[in-house]
Amino acid sequence: MKVAVLGAAGGIGQALALLLKTQLPSGSELSLYDIAPVTPGVAVDLSHIPTAVNIRGFSGEDATPALHGADIVLISAGVARKPGMDRADLFNVNAGIVRNLINQVAKACPDALIGIITNPVNTTVAIAAEALKKAGVYDKRKLFGVTTLDIIRSNTFVAELKGLRPQDVEVRVVGGHSGVTILPLLSQVKGVSFSEQEIADLTRRIQNAGTEVVEAKAGGGSATLSMGQAAARFGLSLVRAMQGEAGVVECAYVEGDGEYTRFFAQPLLLGKQGLEERQSIGTLSAFEQQALEHMQDVLRKDIELGEKFINQ
Ligand SMILES: NC(=O)c1ccc[n+]([C@@H]2O[C@H](COP(=O)([O-])OP(=O)(O)OC[C@H]3O[C@@H](n4cnc5c(N)ncnc54)[C@H](O)[C@@H]3O)[C@@H](O)[C@H]2O)c1
Repeated sequence: MKVAVLGAAGGIGQALALLLKTQLPSGSELSLYDIAPVTPGVAVDLSHIPTAVNIRGFSGEDATPALHGADIVLISAGVARKPGMDRADLFNVNAGIVRNLINQVAKACPDALIGIITNPVNTTVAIAAEALKKAGVYDKRKLFGVTTLDIIRSNTFVAELKGLRPQDVEVRVVGGHSGVTILPLLSQVKGVSFSEQEIADLTRRIQNAGTEVVEAKAGGGSATLSMGQAAARFGLSLVRAMQGEAGVVECAYVEGDGEYTRFFAQPLLLGKQGLEERQSIGTLSAFEQQALEHMQDVLRKDIELGEKFINQ
């Protein structure tokens, strides 16, 4: 199993690389790439951790040496938010970075499963899909927008509010990965009930949790360590599913069949080829149903922006 992290010298990339070095199955290869010259050094640093995961680092303009033979590619390359910016402000810079890296993935490892972390995810996944299509290698089972951070935040906040052990809580989060498009399905959390006020407050907190971190870091960056953990959880789920483990389910942002917007985050059964089955989002409460309807226009516009970026 070979996993490549693109953007590996960044805040998310380094945290993710550390978690993968310590948690990938023995015999795996971990390949780190970033334009930053420090990247081979990050790999040397991590190589001193005694796990049976081979690690190499690459830098410069050409990502392909890091990509050859990769089964999974996780992309966090780009710029992160500063206070006062929303995820859409990142669009112009990150769109070009994602297109460029995806073109290299299309050439070097067209069969790899791809997880896009770079924001704005609602749009960068559409960019990646269109770029892969142009290259003639798009397979919608293999492209994922990583929304796992919304899930782990939801689990933490629900546990905090209800006095539960965080590891016992699993919230499904559907829709997209910005503002009102993030919809935690709190009505489906097993064994917990919420007042209307709690639902409104929790939903708002989960939707704005990224901003909570951006403001707390006061200009020093956005969520990196919690995102590293979230990306590692998602990446390791892909690894387990690719290795034949049954019943691996994660929520992520993928191309659907048109029931909602073209791309939509929902629970997915993962398998050897990536997405095996999109699972139903279940019965929604009236609050959730309204939020679902309200988000679709926003999501549709975010997706169109990505499609236009590639096809203009
Ligand atoms: N999906 C999510 O839930 C989520 C959460 C937090 C942040 N993010 C996004 O992840 C991205 C990375 O965040 P970060 O905090 O790690 O930022 P960072 O600035 O710490 O790291 C980004 C890295 O990307 C590298 N990079 C830039 N252009 C590149 C290119 N063309 N090729 C290769 N590498 C390149 C930089 O050198 C840097 O090391 C941002 O877009 C951020 O908004 C996503």
